[in-house]
Amino acid sequence: MYVCLCNAVSDTAIRKAVRNHQPKTFQELKSFMPVADKCGKCACKARLVMEDELQQLVQYENIA
Ligand code: FES
Repeated sequence: MYVCLCNAVSDTAIRKAVRNHQPKTFQELKSFMPVADKCGKCACKARLVMEDELQQLVQYENIA
């Protein structure tokens, strides 16, 4: 599903970037990919996807 229509960025792409770079802030994520840099309407959803993926990473690390 597309999260950022302006840049055609999907939730899958955001999750992949989070797994690869493990950003500490949304600004840091934005430095890795073009999201929320035009109209900004996707910022809230993109941040939620990032936070969800970061939580999943923590859960996986606790299991391993
Ligand atoms: S929808 Fe993401 S910047 Fe416009």
